Amino acid sequence: LQHSSTTPPAKPSHKPFAFAFDIDGVLLHGSTPIPGASQTLHTLNRLSIPYLLLTNGGGLSESKRVSDLSTLLSTNLSVSQFVQSHTPFQLLRSSHSTILVVGGTRDNCRQVARDYGFENVLIPGDIFASHPGVAPFSNIDIYKDFVLPSAGSEKDGVKGTKVDAVFVFNDPRDWALDIQVIVDVLLSEDGVLGTRRRPEVVKKLGHVPVYFSNPDLWWANEYEHPRLGQGGFRAALEGVWNAIAGENLKAETIGKPHPKTYEYAEDVLIRWAGGEGGKGGLERVYMVGDNPASDVAGANGFISKRGVEWISCLVKTGVYRPGDDDGNAKMVVENVKEAVGTVLKREG
Ligand code: G3P
Ligand code: MG
Repeated sequence: LQHSSTTPPAKPSHKPFAFAFDIDGVLLHGSTPIPGASQTLHTLNRLSIPYLLLTNGGGLSESKRVSDLSTLLSTNLSVSQFVQSHTPFQLLRSSHSTILVVGGTRDNCRQVARDYGFENVLIPGDIFASHPGVAPFSNIDIYKDFVLPSAGSEKDGVKGTKVDAVFVFNDPRDWALDIQVIVDVLLSEDGVLGTRRRPEVVKKLGHVPVYFSNPDLWWANEYEHPRLGQGGFRAALEGVWNAIAGENLKAETIGKPHPKTYEYAEDVLIRWAGGEGGKGGLERVYMVGDNPASDVAGANGFISKRGVEWISCLVKTGVYRPGDDDGNAKMVVENVKEAVGTVLKREG
């Protein structure tokens, strides 16, 4: 697992508190650091106060994203202090044999899934490369050099391949292609590509499981207004499935605010901070985020099995704008620099 070989920091922190930082809208706008973000991380490094990066973003391996973030934030970050949207998916690697991975740029997410231990990984581009008629308005040039995966029946592209689960790893780049391919899998006979069932039969028998890694309807990049995230794609797919089958899509979603993600994040943070959680160890985590629906709701709603208190701290540099519902954030501050400054004063 990405975190099984976690190496705690040089010297375990003996402070009763730590931070969890959201990335988009708190540390970065797209690939531009938010003013004060780097300096804030440097201060925490100097004080040996542990922090975790906890993002609903993804699309590349943890090591690649951490290397990119280290450069962007001119701070030496470790995979052991980093959790992204799909990181917990690696816990499902032995539950499904062949999976369809959706989202991200080209086949980057296929590589991430393979690194997690999923053996047979298809992406919508493979199906499109096999049968361009699958998505009449998508751009075949993006996918034409895709080498068909060995998982398929070579004689006819990927037809006959059985997809056991659909995983949306990151924001889809071609919603038309991705929704079409997922719907074809949902309407297939138990995931066998090229087969078809009537919607009423699918309603009765059920469909291939679908997993989303991130519920964010909105997220903040460098544009002046928030952008639709993976939660927007999910809403679109749910709308299409409802129109086809007259039922709600059965799917599981992880990512902030879901407790599974916070549980996973607390395990990683405890290992990174060194020592234990709860009384006498790590007692408080300040969750600094920009999205009331994910960062604030998740921290406010999470019940730690160790009794660690997660304290939501909302910044104004991302999705949340003054006047919006702040989700009952425990703290509301201008930016990440003020968030950390306020906490350090409070903690003494
Ligand atoms: O796709 C990324 C977006 O959903 C938000 O990421 O870092 O604000 O959790 P983040
Ligand atoms: Mg954010």
